[in-house]
Amino acid sequence: MRLHMSSIKVGLIGCGRIVQQVHLNILTHMSGVDLVALAEVDPERRKQAALRAPGARSFADYRELLEAPEVTAVIICLPNALHAEAAVAAFQKGKSVYLEKPLATNLGDANRVVECWRQADVVGMIGFNYRFHALYQEARLQIDSGRLGDTICGRSVFSSMSRNLPAWKQNRQDGGGVLLDLASHHIDLIHFLFGQRVNNVFANICSQDFEGDSAILQLELDDGLIVQSFFSMKAIDEDVFEIYGDKGKIRIDRYHSLNVEFSDPAIDFSLIRRMGRKLRRLAGSPYLLDKIRGTGREPSYQLALSHFISSVRANRSAQPDILDGLRSLAVVEAAERSARTGRRVLVEDPAK
Ligand SMILES: NC(=O)c1ccc[n+]([C@@H]2O[C@H](COP(=O)([O-])OP(=O)(O)OC[C@H]3O[C@@H](n4cnc5c(N)ncnc54)[C@H](O)[C@@H]3O)[C@@H](O)[C@H]2O)c1
Repeated sequence: MRLHMSSIKVGLIGCGRIVQQVHLNILTHMSGVDLVALAEVDPERRKQAALRAPGARSFADYRELLEAPEVTAVIICLPNALHAEAAVAAFQKGKSVYLEKPLATNLGDANRVVECWRQADVVGMIGFNYRFHALYQEARLQIDSGRLGDTICGRSVFSSMSRNLPAWKQNRQDGGGVLLDLASHHIDLIHFLFGQRVNNVFANICSQDFEGDSAILQLELDDGLIVQSFFSMKAIDEDVFEIYGDKGKIRIDRYHSLNVEFSDPAIDFSLIRRMGRKLRRLAGSPYLLDKIRGTGREPSYQLALSHFISSVRANRSAQPDILDGLRSLAVVEAAERSARTGRRVLVEDPAK
């Protein structure tokens, strides 16, 4: 017997690059989702999106879409500088919101989103999809299990090669720069993996091709663990996280790893044993199929959106939520202050 599941009526706000490459494909194939409305200010992109979602009403502006009473949940994929105002407007209309990262471009606006979300009492989720990535989930389990012993240091790189970017991604005032674009994800992953806050940050920010296109951060967590991170939008495509402990190290290379790679403290000089271990890990990788099937070879988008939809259906809170967005943004702002002053900056807990 098939259980009847009522569909969640979804509105998609902003139909730019990520939506055309990822979200539209996922949402038009996800069971229990009825994509009933689209908003996109650019006529050509609106037309493209409408062709792929027949039956959805199209609007030029997100404010018109928010007036549609049939829409219960919205997915906001607008330029970053519009995130806060769109999320506030959606919460005021009582819609549940999946908001692409970052939460806002400054903490003042972000706090306003938090306030409206609390008043609306609906689902509010932030698009830190990598929390749903199988390898990051596994890494967290391994850290929690004590396999690494005492954790000593983390190192991370999240970078992309130089691409044609919309103007808004190239200046800070409009929500551009690598800290909001890529670093916001890794800062969230630090909170997720270690279960604690960033206490203080020291940062250098570079502006070679455009404002804030690269940054180096040294982040100290509440328990003293240090994470060093390099972020860039003009280097190579790379997303790597390494965590060192006194009993071993784990490494995740999101584009290339099929498992969380574990290294023992002592090197094994036997090439045959090392190869054998690699092959056994490959054969036993449940992640390989997910990766091949995932939209854009990245399964975490689908998992994150599906978590949002099931949370709306069950009327229960979703993680990562709006406060997780606030915590990540607080670290970004502290890093910017550090780069301006040349000093280490304490990160206040904005969620307190
Ligand atoms: N989670 C991830 O890994 C990930 C990846 C890529 C992008 N993103 C986020 O998704 C968002 C969109 O990124 P993108 O690369 O698709 O940018 P984009 O500029 O290609 O898309 C934004 C779209 O919003 C439209 N828009 C602007 N104002 C509007 C309005 N008032 N009403 C309706 N539409 C309007 C623009 O015309 C544009 O098509 C950003 O917040 C970005 O940070 C997240």
